[in-house]
Amino acid sequence: NMVPLRVVTAYLHVFMHSRRHAKGLVYVERTKPLEQYTTEELYVRFRFGKADIEYLVNLLRPKLQHRTQRSHGLSVEDQILIALRFYACGTFYEVVGDYMGVVKSAVCDVVKDVSIALASLVNEFVSFPKDNQIAQAKRSFFLLGNMPNTIGAIDCTHVHIQAPRENEWEFINRKGRHSINVQLVCDADLIITNCVVKWPGSVHDARILRESALYRDLQTNRPDGVILGDSAYPLLPWLMTPFLTANTPAQARFNTAHCRARCAIERLNGVLKRRFACLNYLRAEPQKACNITLACIVLHNIATKHFLDQSDPNPTKKF
Ligand SMILES: *[C@@H]1O[C@H](CO)[C@@H](O)[C@H](O)[C@H]1NC(C)=O
Repeated sequence: NMVPLRVVTAYLHVFMHSRRHAKGLVYVERTKPLEQYTTEELYVRFRFGKADIEYLVNLLRPKLQHRTQRSHGLSVEDQILIALRFYACGTFYEVVGDYMGVVKSAVCDVVKDVSIALASLVNEFVSFPKDNQIAQAKRSFFLLGNMPNTIGAIDCTHVHIQAPRENEWEFINRKGRHSINVQLVCDADLIITNCVVKWPGSVHDARILRESALYRDLQTNRPDGVILGDSAYPLLPWLMTPFLTANTPAQARFNTAHCRARCAIERLNGVLKRRFACLNYLRAEPQKACNITLACIVLHNIATKHFLDQSDPNPTKKF
């Protein structure tokens, strides 16, 4: 499968350079991934199969269609494939462009547009368990770690970025790298149920929580259940942290159960960055990096729910 692609790409290079000033048209012969690849091959390259990609095309069509002019004449399907390829492999725009047969600037614009479109759906696809979902959330956490009354696990993860042009020092985290510090809450199936994607890497986990809408919400409307966090977080009526030192067998058993159930959020962070490798390092300014991160969060939930609906016993095993 790869040989014809390479040939097309080599041809494109010549074409693109000779038409450097031609606006709009940026490719001659499109690769047709949806026809060319098996489902398995699509998963490897785009993290979604054919039916899911068609679902995403329909989902985003209203938001991306009117942008077609600006998006270098690319169809909605092409835009989504280009963005998915970028999220999945997270390499340079040039490399994604060469693979998909478009110029670098087109990839850059398309990733921006598709990310904004997906990010605008975050409230639709990321929601904290309510009413009739709570019992199920508790049951799943109990199966995971014998931890009763648990409806979520919280933690922060750093999305590394290149040094920003403005307020560069604010983004330096405690490991000395530039990052966005992203707060995530997930359930036992690794569905993301809350996220905060806006803080520079130097801001601590506890402060991100304290200033979040989730915190205000759970302080005023005490949830039926608790969320689990590590010792970086404060102990609250709805937030359980482990004992710093377990002095009794009961405390030790609590810590073991807490640790097993809380590890859902650590697995989530691993799955998210394997599934969308771009999140390991984004060559983007902070605002764009936040939009890309939100897009990957929405895509993660779509992908994970899809596997759960198919009652795949281990929805994230591929990652
Ligand atoms: C990020 O998204 C917001 C709207 O969601 C948009 O206004 C902004 O231009 C985006 N920034 C970048 C750099 O993509």
